[in-house]
Amino acid sequence: MAIERTLSIIKPDAVAKNVIGKIYDRFESAGLKIVASRMAHLSQNEAEQFYGVHKDRPFFKDLVSFMISGPVMIQVLQGEGAIAKNRDLMGATDPKKAEKGTIRADFADSIDANAVHGSDAPETAAVEVAFFFPGMNVFNR
Ligand code: TYD
Repeated sequence: MAIERTLSIIKPDAVAKNVIGKIYDRFESAGLKIVASRMAHLSQNEAEQFYGVHKDRPFFKDLVSFMISGPVMIQVLQGEGAIAKNRDLMGATDPKKAEKGTIRADFADSIDANAVHGSDAPETAAVEVAFFFPGMNVFNR
């Protein structure tokens, strides 16, 4: 399987719970390398742009409000099959349906405050990485 990069966000609920390190350990233990990272407090405009694909969904307004409610930790993960691997580590969107031992099952409270974001395909991963880490801000390790 190819080496991929994927965009991961630890959302405001998980940052507030002080579990950044525990979530980073899940990534590293699964063989994913953190090749870029930064903390940010997203603006409304950034959150709306980032989740633009959902702009017509009923949950869009609440999703944007949640994503700007506190700082987030944004990282690029690199490794074999990184996109699917990260989605497996995250678990289902609704933590009630997420498999035991996944990040969302262990750290998320609800479908709207669900601890992490992860790109879902190579095309979205490329767009999302470039959105938060333009230019040379991703490292080769
Ligand atoms: P989606 O891309 O479907 O899920 P995922 O994050 O697993 O790729 O949805 C994006 C985010 O929108 C999701 O993480 C939380 C929010 N959301 C809701 O608040 N309610 C919903 O019913 C859905 C489907 C998503």
